[in-house]
Amino acid sequence: MKIRKAVFPVAGLGTRVLPATKAMPKEMLTIVDKPLIQYVFDEAREAGIEHFIFVTGRNKGVIEDHFDRMFELDTTLAARGNKKAEIEILARDQPAAGATSFTRQQAPLGLGHAVWCARDIVGNEPFAVVLPDELVLNTPGCLAQMIEAANKLGEKTNVIAVEEVPADMTHQYGICGVGKRLGGNMFEVDGMVEKPPKGTAPSNLSITGRYILQPEIFSILETQERGAGGEIQLTDAMIGLARTQSFYGVEFEGERHDCGSKAGFLRANIAFGMARADLRDGLRAEMKHYLEK
Ligand code: UTP
Repeated sequence: MKIRKAVFPVAGLGTRVLPATKAMPKEMLTIVDKPLIQYVFDEAREAGIEHFIFVTGRNKGVIEDHFDRMFELDTTLAARGNKKAEIEILARDQPAAGATSFTRQQAPLGLGHAVWCARDIVGNEPFAVVLPDELVLNTPGCLAQMIEAANKLGEKTNVIAVEEVPADMTHQYGICGVGKRLGGNMFEVDGMVEKPPKGTAPSNLSITGRYILQPEIFSILETQERGAGGEIQLTDAMIGLARTQSFYGVEFEGERHDCGSKAGFLRANIAFGMARADLRDGLRAEMKHYLEK
């Protein structure tokens, strides 16, 4: 099952990191020197994705600009003569011509609704969903690990990336039950529940922001009622799909960062900064300075 398309829902309001997101999309917040959306684009491209579908909303136009070619910038950098590295970075980060699509979610009704907005562009084939505010620091990336796992399974399966969370925090997440283990880091999902009341979670494995889904999810999303938080939840539609199709969980390698929260955003900057050979020593010295203050 070749996964060619990835959907990036980017139409949310990013209320947890206001006021940063008042006029700027959360997905353009910068970790070290790249916007979040570029990290997840790179992760998807590394995983073999060929078509990148962005579900945008009001105030998100700059995301489309980010993936466009900036002639003025290219020309100015070339004229300066000493900006070869910068020119290479811009070329490297650029999607191939025609490899992106942008559609709109006209109101932020929830993640499930945002994914549904991509139905016509995805069409009748399995696809990935990648949430840009969750970054996983690892090579190979989280989506590449999931696609590798999916390739070992049969047709018509769905794959979710899961991560262990403390038992007293399960009520804040979508949680899945664990069925038969397939060996390695994979297991059959035995039920999913969005934000289970304290003490009722079937496991402490949370559903994270990477999914491989079959296109039948769209007809379920079409009539999906609002769920937790008054939003149309993707997890609720996946629970519906699990009645007729299998779901597998992948406990991926790598550290996940929730960049949509202030603490997670700061932590991600430190983690990604420390992973950079050109920045590590300077950053370590700066942190030491502030810790000793
Ligand atoms: P989040 O719930 O993390 O984003 O959704 P949010 O709603 O923007 O943020 P908070 O909770 O108010 O701080 C994960 C991803 O799904 C997108 C968001 O843009 C984010 O990238 N999303 C969410 C949509 O595209 N549409 C929605 O209706 C909700």
